[in-house]
Amino acid sequence: MLPAVSRMAFGAFQRRAFSASARDLSKVAVLGAAGGIGQPLSLLLKLNPRVTELALYDIRGGPGHWLRGYPSGLASAVKGADVILIPAGVPRKPGMTRDDLFNTNASIVRDLAKACAESAPEANLLIIANPVNSTVPICAEVYKARGAYNPKRLFGVTTLDVVRASRFVSETKGTDPKDENITVSKHPELSSNAEIINRVQFGGDEVVKAKDGAGSATLSMAMAGARMAESVLRAAQGEKGVVEPTFVDSPLYKDQGVDFFASKVELGPNGVEKILPIGEVNAAEEKLIEACLADLKKNIAKGVSFVQANPGK
Ligand code: NAD
Ligand code: LMR
Repeated sequence: MLPAVSRMAFGAFQRRAFSASARDLSKVAVLGAAGGIGQPLSLLLKLNPRVTELALYDIRGGPGHWLRGYPSGLASAVKGADVILIPAGVPRKPGMTRDDLFNTNASIVRDLAKACAESAPEANLLIIANPVNSTVPICAEVYKARGAYNPKRLFGVTTLDVVRASRFVSETKGTDPKDENITVSKHPELSSNAEIINRVQFGGDEVVKAKDGAGSATLSMAMAGARMAESVLRAAQGEKGVVEPTFVDSPLYKDQGVDFFASKVELGPNGVEKILPIGEVNAAEEKLIEACLADLKKNIAKGVSFVQANPGK
C-alpha cells in the first residue's frame, strides 16, 4: 500500500538513523495508515531522520502491503512508541458537518485509544480523526478510566488550520507561507480580513466540496500531521522553544466550563510544557471566540458522555 519510493528511501534512512544518539531514537506509530491521510503521512514520517522506527497499522490491507506493518497486532504496533498519530476514521462527504462523523468515528477512536492507554500509556497521542473537538475528550475519558490520563501527552491536531491561514495570508502579500507565523491574535492581515477568516474557518468544506464525495483534505493534512509530529519529537529530543497550535486540555476557558481549547502551546520533553495565552483580541475576534466556546462545550460533553455510556470492552 505504501508507495515504492518509501521502500527506496528506507536504506538511506536506516543509515541516517544508525548515527542517531540513543536519546534521539524515536518510534512513531500511525493508526489508520492505509487511508487518504495515513499513506502520505507515513511516507513523510519515513523520510524523517528523527523517526527511527515507524509502525503502520490499519484494518485494511495485508502484511504484503506494509513496509513494517502491523495489520493484526495493534498492541505491538503502539508498544514503545514515543508518538502515535490517529487518522483512522471516516471523512466527510459534501453536506455533512464534522459532527456528523461522530457516530462512526467515536467508537473507532475509543477502541484505538484503549489499546494505546494499555500498551503505550507514556506516548504522545496525536488525534487527527474528526470531530477532533469530541475525539480528543473521548481519548481523555478512555485514559482516565484506566488511571493513565496525562493531559500533557494528548493533542488534537489543528495544525492544518494555521497551515491554511499562512497560505491564504501569504497569497495576499506575495510572501512565502512558511514565513507567515499565524497567531490567533494580532496578525494584521488576518484580524482585519473577514474573507480570509471565513476561508480558514471553512477551508475544510471547500476541499470536501471540491472532492465531491471522495473524502476531505489528505495531502495537506499529511503535511500538517508530519509537522506536528516533528515538533513533538524536536521538543522530546531537547530542543527549546518549540511552539505549535494544538487542541489540548487547557486552563484558558475552564472557568466557563470548557476543558479543551486550541491555542499556541510550547512543547517540551514531557509533551505540553506551557499553554500560551490567547493575547489581545479585537471585538470581532472576541465575538468569534464566544460563539466557538458555546459549540465547543457541547462537542466536548458529547465525547465525554459517549465514553461514559459506551465504555466498550
Ligand atoms: P480514509 O477513509 O481515506 O482513511 C481512513 C483509514 O482509517 C482507512 O484506511 C481505514 O481502513 C482506517 N480505519 C478505520 N477504522 C480503523 C480502525 N479501527 N483501526 C485502524 N484503522 C482504521 O480517511 P482520511 O481522508 O484519511 O481521513 C481520516 C480522518 O481524518 C477523517 O475522520 C477526517 O475527517 C479526518 N481529518 C482531520 C483533519 C484535521 O485537521 N484534524 C483534516 C483532514 C481529515
Ligand atoms: C479539514 O479541515 O480539512 C478537516 O477537518 C476535514 C474536514 O472534514 O473538513
